[in-house]
Amino acid sequence: MAEIASQQTTQNPLEPNFLMNSLHLNDHSASAESYSAHDDVIPTIDYSMLFSTDPHQASLALQYLAQLVNHEIPDKVFENFFKGIYEFFDPKTLEERKVYSKKDSMDRIRWGLNSSSGENREYIKVIAHPDYNFPSNPSTFSEVFQEYYKETRRIVVGLARAMSKSLGFEEKLIEKAFKLKSGFDVSAMNLYPPNHKSKGEMGLPEHTDPGFIITLVQDVNGGLQILSHQGKWIQASIPRHAILIQIGDHLEILTNGKYKSHLHRVIVGKNKVQRISVATLHGPSLETFVRPAPEFVDQDHPQAYLGMTYKQSLQVNGNHEIDVQSSLDQIR
Ligand code: SIN
Ligand code: FE2
Repeated sequence: MAEIASQQTTQNPLEPNFLMNSLHLNDHSASAESYSAHDDVIPTIDYSMLFSTDPHQASLALQYLAQLVNHEIPDKVFENFFKGIYEFFDPKTLEERKVYSKKDSMDRIRWGLNSSSGENREYIKVIAHPDYNFPSNPSTFSEVFQEYYKETRRIVVGLARAMSKSLGFEEKLIEKAFKLKSGFDVSAMNLYPPNHKSKGEMGLPEHTDPGFIITLVQDVNGGLQILSHQGKWIQASIPRHAILIQIGDHLEILTNGKYKSHLHRVIVGKNKVQRISVATLHGPSLETFVRPAPEFVDQDHPQAYLGMTYKQSLQVNGNHEIDVQSSLDQIR
């Protein structure tokens, strides 16, 4: 049966930042390589709660939109996918991967190794939707990715509806505003080295991500940190096979700042083992002109962001259709 985990608050889900607030997380360090019963965790939400016929239950559930459990994705899907990622990142095939090094802004698959300063990760970024571009090796990699991705997309559409309803609008508000049917989704699969092999503390420097929401899964707990709105870096501890939901810059824009994307980074300094994560940026369609929706603009809340197409915002970021950086600064 659906249940909302532990911490319930009386916080109004319509308050700005309620998603971030729900991420009040914990201040303790998560142990780096295991999911121990003693780890403190981000409050969890049962996916089915979002569709409760009781609107109060549904909006309560949304307060915990930090990490989703009971999303009905079988464990096997995660396990096969993670295995595929490790096979892909096999040190013996490093040379083969270099063919995907960034050359052109229109490259559909991009590979990088410690490519920006202060970064300690190897990554492969693929376009998952509406086109689909995937490395052909190892042969089952594409298939296991598709299995995972199709489930994630189902969840994202569900979230768009639940979120619109909890804001008091018709359930397709977000879906329509972003034209999610042809939404532009990019998956970044990351491999972070263990601390003794990394060249510093930082796995991935701080950034926010563009798009509607970002789904994040990982195989090893520890390393991801999120900046609380009190300005404190918080260690995110995510239960095994839960999906962390983060707010993308374009949801911030659409809601005229009611929801905020938040800065996050990855620290590899404590991880004794390597870690993989998959961050999928679920975006509007490329041609969608994203601006604050009229529902979020009034005398007390004047329009705070300029509009532009999603494609333009990605290009502003150095043809970012795959690069993970904030597009907010350019749009504001
Ligand atoms: C992570 O690896 O935990 C975060 C990846 C990202 O922000 O893209
Ligand atoms: Fe990110």
